[in-house]
Amino acid sequence: MRIIVMDNYDEMSKRAALMITSQVMLKPDSVLGLATGDTPLGMYKELIKLYNKKEVDFKEVRTFNLDEYYGINRENLQSYYYFMNSNLFNSINIARENINMPDGMAKDVNASCKGYENKIKELGGIDMQVLGIGGNGHIGFNEPNVNFEAETHLVNLEEQTIEANSRFFTSIKDVPVKAISMGIKTIMNSKKIILLANGLNKAKAIERAVNGKINPNIPASILQLHNDVTIIIDKEAASKL
Ligand code: PGA
Repeated sequence: MRIIVMDNYDEMSKRAALMITSQVMLKPDSVLGLATGDTPLGMYKELIKLYNKKEVDFKEVRTFNLDEYYGINRENLQSYYYFMNSNLFNSINIARENINMPDGMAKDVNASCKGYENKIKELGGIDMQVLGIGGNGHIGFNEPNVNFEAETHLVNLEEQTIEANSRFFTSIKDVPVKAISMGIKTIMNSKKIILLANGLNKAKAIERAVNGKINPNIPASILQLHNDVTIIIDKEAASKL
């Protein structure tokens, strides 16, 4: 694992955006794995700036998002589809047909998850996967006590995750309790991984992911076994290392 500690959130975001930009320069049709949440928002803003300055071109880029709530449709303001459109896709030149998101309204969830995995494989696998981390050490929606062998699947969200996500909903009762998430196996099959974290509330999860024993209670700890992980964090998230 490479650990890069930046002074603050803005610097963390810029560094991550430069890594994505370099990836796309080296391989214009890169397959990117993308994440939602507060953490990557600054990185997406930077990518839009770089795109506007013509420093990166997304014309041939393909994307797969890590996860999507189950049971809410794409028009819902809280769907991750909506998030990705409003925070990145609508502002860059990515081709709509190159965007892949888990289908939160799939009737046959298993078939839909299998189809998602197959498509990733057909395109040659994920070149660079962006991850955030939950306060409980989750990556994607792979909650503690994770099955390290799982591919894309339906998950039950933990109480702590539902509570953390309730800030975006009118009431905690509106927060979906299930989601479709890439599994740990899907994530581990990515060629390169960058994990971003900022703020004191992520310090403990980062410490356990980096220095702790690899165990299913801290899903992110499995990343210790991946051979190309870069962790980009601000000073606060690094404060327990
Ligand atoms: P956050 O979420 O970026 O909104 O903190 C990260 C996560 O839960 O994976």
